Amino acid sequence: MSALKSVVIMGGLGSGQIVASVIEDINAQEPTWEIKGYLNDVEEMGSLIGAYPVVGLTAEAADYAAKGVFVHYAMRNAKFARPRIRRFKEMGIPDEAFATFVHPATHTSGSAGLGHGSLLCAQVNLSFGARVANHNHLYGNAFIGHDSVLEDFSWIANNSAIGARCIIGEGAHLGTNCSLREDVNIGPYAIVGIGSVVLKDVGEDEIAVGNPAKIIGSVAQYKEDPVDARKKS
Ligand SMILES: CC(C)(COP(=O)(O)OP(=O)(O)OC[C@H]1O[C@@H](n2cnc3c(N)ncnc32)[C@H](O)[C@@H]1OP(=O)(O)O)[C@@H](O)C(=O)NCCC(=O)NCCS
Repeated sequence: MSALKSVVIMGGLGSGQIVASVIEDINAQEPTWEIKGYLNDVEEMGSLIGAYPVVGLTAEAADYAAKGVFVHYAMRNAKFARPRIRRFKEMGIPDEAFATFVHPATHTSGSAGLGHGSLLCAQVNLSFGARVANHNHLYGNAFIGHDSVLEDFSWIANNSAIGARCIIGEGAHLGTNCSLREDVNIGPYAIVGIGSVVLKDVGEDEIAVGNPAKIIGSVAQYKEDPVDARKKS
């Protein structure tokens, strides 16, 4: 049997644990990964988040990557996505260091493309010609219509349905159970609220909710990650 690959998960409670649970399901089919633990700037070093310990700070991700440990970004926060992702990109970790996890119970068309560091939970369906770039999280039962594109760092919550030929911008978040009409574009860092039905494009940073979805705000005001702010004070 080949040696297990090691991975650290950047994040913890919530999204990080979802990543860990998908890895456990992959391992149940075929032992593949050793989860070393979480890189987390809030919880105490050595403390447990579920079954796995905090093994360092997020700033240590590049060191782990240099040692051949795979890294997975799971520091999800819809409103503070932009400053958080900016700080992560500054780490300059090469794409090849990021592990993608695909739950055994997904359906991915042979012509769909999948980049580095993404997560596909159970029952995700990627239609033909769909492209999922890097660091995207697709939660259970998300449906990505044919020829749609998810740019880097998008976060598609469970049961969301994206129509054909949609483009989801970098860092955008679609809440649980929302639906997008075909050919609709969601701008970078925009948020679509839970249960919304999106018939028209949503611009960069905009927050859209309802049926039909209307713009109710912007994430542009969320300039500094509260975790970084706490570290400075
Ligand atoms: C869109 C969202 C980010 C807005 O959050 P917020 O900025 O804190 O906004 P508020 O909760 O203060 O709501 C503002 C107004 O929008 C309405 N609203 C918020 N979300 C809504 C939604 N999904 N559908 C319809 N109306 C919504 C509120 O009722 C409120 O209306 P009011 O001013 O008339 O009372 C949030 O509601 C949301 O849907 N987040 C996604 C959650 C999710 O998917 N979680 C799963 C992740 S795994």
